[in-house]
Amino acid sequence: MAVAPGLVRDAVIGFLETRDEPASVKEILDAVSASLGRVSPSSVRSYLTLNVPSLFSRTERGKYSLSAIDDGNVSHVALAPAVTVDKASLYHANCMDWLRSRDPNSIHAVVTDPPYGLVEYSERELTKLREGNGGIWRIPPAFDGHRRAPLPRFTVLSAQDRVQLHSFFNLFAKRLRKVLVPGANVVVASNPLLSHLVASAMSDAGLELRGTIVRLSMTMRGGDRPKNAHHEFSSVSVMPRSMWEPWVVLRKPLEGRVQDNLRKWKTGGFRRISDDLPFGDVIKSSPTPRAERLIAPHPSLKPQSFLRRIVRGSLPLGEGVVLDPFAGSGSTLAAANALGYESIGVEADPKFVRLADEAIAKLSTLTPR
Ligand SMILES: C[S@@+](CC[C@H](N)C(=O)[O-])C[C@H]1O[C@@H](n2cnc3c(N)ncnc32)[C@H](O)[C@@H]1O
Repeated sequence: MAVAPGLVRDAVIGFLETRDEPASVKEILDAVSASLGRVSPSSVRSYLTLNVPSLFSRTERGKYSLSAIDDGNVSHVALAPAVTVDKASLYHANCMDWLRSRDPNSIHAVVTDPPYGLVEYSERELTKLREGNGGIWRIPPAFDGHRRAPLPRFTVLSAQDRVQLHSFFNLFAKRLRKVLVPGANVVVASNPLLSHLVASAMSDAGLELRGTIVRLSMTMRGGDRPKNAHHEFSSVSVMPRSMWEPWVVLRKPLEGRVQDNLRKWKTGGFRRISDDLPFGDVIKSSPTPRAERLIAPHPSLKPQSFLRRIVRGSLPLGEGVVLDPFAGSGSTLAAANALGYESIGVEADPKFVRLADEAIAKLSTLTPR
């Protein structure tokens, strides 16, 4: 079966990262096939051979291990932030590489909204979106005279795409685990069709699943009736029209009891809303307001009112560093600035980095509706 080379790379690296000892080609092939489906032995073998010594070292008897962390693969990772605004720093990098270069035990919470189609944020699809040309991005019809935000066509994911998503989130969680302090919360935006996949891929990588935060909103406006047969089947919704967005909650395992972890690492719980109100798992939210979309015209912009609730809650004592590895317009960083929290973002697309440079200060100072 043909599998995108980047996924073979991530699966091989992901497997070798879990190993204390070099692995044989057969062991690597079995692990890659387990996460991506059946992959041809020759593609894995030639991938390994081609990337010695930049990524892999070949040891005695043809076994392989990852090259040292300062190998060619991470040398291009931006070492200095591209953007700094108040207590937020944004790096222009692929977060998978950036995470490998980051010190262990240096991040206290993650709040992020990752890509789901694997390709919707590729250069090709972003160019189509920016030219108003569709591709994987569905440009919804105007509704009541209002132009609506483009949505990625998640429902086009095939079984193979889902396997690849598992491998992407599994590797992502493995890389995250190393940089997180024990007890760090990881809160990941998802959608009702895929949240189970994110939860299992990330918990397979050693993070503990802690539940789901429900963002109550109308995330899929319209489009629920049978396509091209609206009138014929006017009483039918093809699937439940989604009015909520699941944010999967995970945690790096604690060191000792909750109170030990809180004392040592400042993590291990959520910050209460007040003495009387615990941090709850249903948050009412409306679609991102127009004022925010004008400041930060990113296709997946999340609203400040909601992000500030989540970001505030993610650090139980209000101390530490919040990371958004898929930072987009920097909206999570803006929320952190509004709360006086230190934050770090990583964004791969240079145009979104420039957008964030403009948007973070403006988003952080507005009073959300
Ligand atoms: C769903 S959007 C997040 C948007 C964000 N919620 C906001 O409010 O602006 C995901 C972002 O991740 C970026 N991205 C995709 N793959 C990445 C990677 N490997 N490393 C860093 N950024 C990546 C995309 O360019 C996109 O801006």
